[in-house]
Amino acid sequence: MTVSDVRQRYLDFFAKRGHAVIPSAPIVPENDPTTLFTSSGMQPLVPYLLGQPHPEGARLTNSQMSFRAEDIEEVGDNRHTTFFEMLGNWSLGDYFKQEQLPWFFEFLTSSEEGLGLDPQKLYVTVFDGDESTGMDLDTEAVEIWKKLFAEKGMSAELVRIGTEEEGYAKGMQDGRIFSYGAKKNWWSRSGIPAKMPPGEPGGPDSEVFYDFGTPHDPKWGGECHVNCDCGRFVEIGNSVFMQFVKQADGSFKELPKKNVDFGGGLERLAFTVLKNPDIFLIDVFGAARAVIEKRSGKSYGDTEATRSFRIILDHMRAASFFIASGIRPSNTEQGYVLRRLIRRSIREADKLGIKEAVLAEVAEGFGAAYLSAYPFVHEATPVIHEELEKEEAQFRKTLAHGMRELEKMGNDIDAFTLFTTYGFPIELTEEIAKERGIAFDMDSVKTKMEEHQALSRAGAAQKFAGGLADHAEQTVRYHTAHHILLKALQMVLGPDVHQRGSNITSERLRIDFSYGAKMTSEQKAEVEKIVNEKIAEGIPVVRTDMKKEEAEKLGAEHEFGATYPETVSVYSVGPLGSAFSIEFCGGPHVSNTRELGEGGKRFKIVKEKASSAGVRRIKAVLE
Ligand code: ALA
Repeated sequence: MTVSDVRQRYLDFFAKRGHAVIPSAPIVPENDPTTLFTSSGMQPLVPYLLGQPHPEGARLTNSQMSFRAEDIEEVGDNRHTTFFEMLGNWSLGDYFKQEQLPWFFEFLTSSEEGLGLDPQKLYVTVFDGDESTGMDLDTEAVEIWKKLFAEKGMSAELVRIGTEEEGYAKGMQDGRIFSYGAKKNWWSRSGIPAKMPPGEPGGPDSEVFYDFGTPHDPKWGGECHVNCDCGRFVEIGNSVFMQFVKQADGSFKELPKKNVDFGGGLERLAFTVLKNPDIFLIDVFGAARAVIEKRSGKSYGDTEATRSFRIILDHMRAASFFIASGIRPSNTEQGYVLRRLIRRSIREADKLGIKEAVLAEVAEGFGAAYLSAYPFVHEATPVIHEELEKEEAQFRKTLAHGMRELEKMGNDIDAFTLFTTYGFPIELTEEIAKERGIAFDMDSVKTKMEEHQALSRAGAAQKFAGGLADHAEQTVRYHTAHHILLKALQMVLGPDVHQRGSNITSERLRIDFSYGAKMTSEQKAEVEKIVNEKIAEGIPVVRTDMKKEEAEKLGAEHEFGATYPETVSVYSVGPLGSAFSIEFCGGPHVSNTRELGEGGKRFKIVKEKASSAGVRRIKAVLE
C-alpha cells in the first residue's frame, strides 16, 4: 500500500459512514496570528468545535497538511518528521465514543475496507483521570476497547500504568489497555488542563499504538511501555473526546455539543502497514532517497549515514510544500523556518560527503509523489528548484567561510560573532558545539543578540514553541478591519487589488496585496477615511453558508492560496444584497463594525511598503 492508498482508504471509509470529505487547509494558517503553521487537523476547525455550525455538516473527514517546527530536532529517528499529513475525522456534536473507537479499530483491522493490521499488534491507552480537575478514569472507553478486543477473541486487561514521576515503572504487565494521566491522555492545543487558556476546548483522549516488537533500550527507562520513547511502540491514532471548554476561573464546562477530534499520522499508518519500523521507507521518499544515495555513494542503510539521510528527506519534503505554498527563505517567521530546513539539510549533505549543490535534485521527486493529492507541489517544481538552488549556493559560501572562522576559534566558539560577522547560523554553532562536546550557553548568546537588536523575534520564538490561536477581542476586531481595508483598497486603487497574504496580531493587522506602485499619501488618507466611515456607520457583519459557486457569483473575495469545499462560509460587511465587502472566511468577526471604534479608536495605516514584486504590504492599527 502506498501513502496515497492509505489516504484514499481512510477518506473512503469515513465518507461511507456519512462524513463530508473537506480539503486540507493551507499549511500557513490565514488570520491566525499566533501560530506560524497548521500543526493539526483540528486547528482550522476550532470555531466549529466551539459550536459554530460547519457548512458541510456535523461529520467531516480530511487529510490535513501539518508542520511541527518544535519537532525539528527529533527528526533522525525512525518515526519523527516535521511535515506530515494528519488524517482526521470529526463529529461536531454528532457521534461520540461508542462510534469513534469501533470505527477506527475497524479501519485498522479490516482487510476489505481498512489496513488489515493484526489486532495482536495493537495496544491502546485511555485517560486515567486528573486530580486537578477532579475527572475520573474513562471507564466508558475501557469497556468499549474490552469489547472490541473480545470480538477478535482476545482478552484485554486494563493496567493503570501510574505516573510519570514513578517513571511509568509498572511496565506492560501483560495489559492491552493502559490508562495514563493528563500528560499523555488529555488533548488540547496547549496541552494539559492547567495550561489551557480560558475559551480553549479540550478533552480526554484514547490512543492506539502498533507494536513493532523491536528490543527495548534501557536508556529510555527500566521498563518498556506503550508511551516509551525507545521506538518499539508507535502511536498511530488519537481519538480526542473534545467535550470541555476551559473557564476563566480555571474550571471546565461541558461544551454545548460533545465533539470527536480524531487525528492519525498518515505516514505512520503507511509505514505500519509495511511492518517495518521506519517512516522513511514509505514510497513518497523513494525518489529523493535514490538521489542522495547516488550523489553520496552511501546507502541509506549504512548506520553512519541513516540519520543524515532522514534529516534531508524530511526537510526537503517540507521545503517543497513550503515553497509551493508561497513561502520563501527569509529571516523572519515562516521564511526563517524554511531557511533553517534548507541549511540543516546542507550540513547533513556535507556530512555525507556531498560537497556540491544537491538539494534541488533531491526535491525533484516530491511533485510526482504527491501528484494526485497535492498537484500544486508538482506545478511549483520550477520554483522549488530555483529557490533551493539559490539558497544552497548562498549558504554553501557562508558555511565554508564561517567554518574556517569557527575552526580558528578552537574550544572557544563565539556564536555571536560568527553570526553577526559571518552570517553563520547560531543553531548550527550550537549543533557543532554539541557534536564536539564543547559547552554552549544558548541563553547568554540570545541575551547578547537581543542587546544587539539584531534578532527581536520574541513573538516568533513563542510561535515556534507551537502557538495557540488567540481569539482575543482585539484580534477579532483587526480581522474585521482587514476585510473593510481590502475593499477600501479596491475602491481607491482599482479592482485588480487582491489579497496576497495576511497576518493579524492583537497589536496590528498586516495585509499583502497585489498592486504595482507605492501608494501616495492622498491614497492612504482616502483609504483610512473609507474604513473609518464604515466603522462609524455601524454596519452589521453577517455570516452566510452557501454553495461555493454562489459565493463566487456574488464576487466574494478569496483568501489567497486557499482551496474551498463545495459549501463555504462567507462573511459580509452589511447584508448580502447590499454588502460593502464579501469574503470567503471562517471567521471569527465582530457582529457590528461599530465595535472597531469602541473607546474612540480610529483606523490608521502605519506603514506601506513593497513586499515582493507587484505586491505591497500595509500595517495598520486601531488606536
Ligand atoms: N488533535 C489531535 C492531535 O493532534 C487529534 O493529536
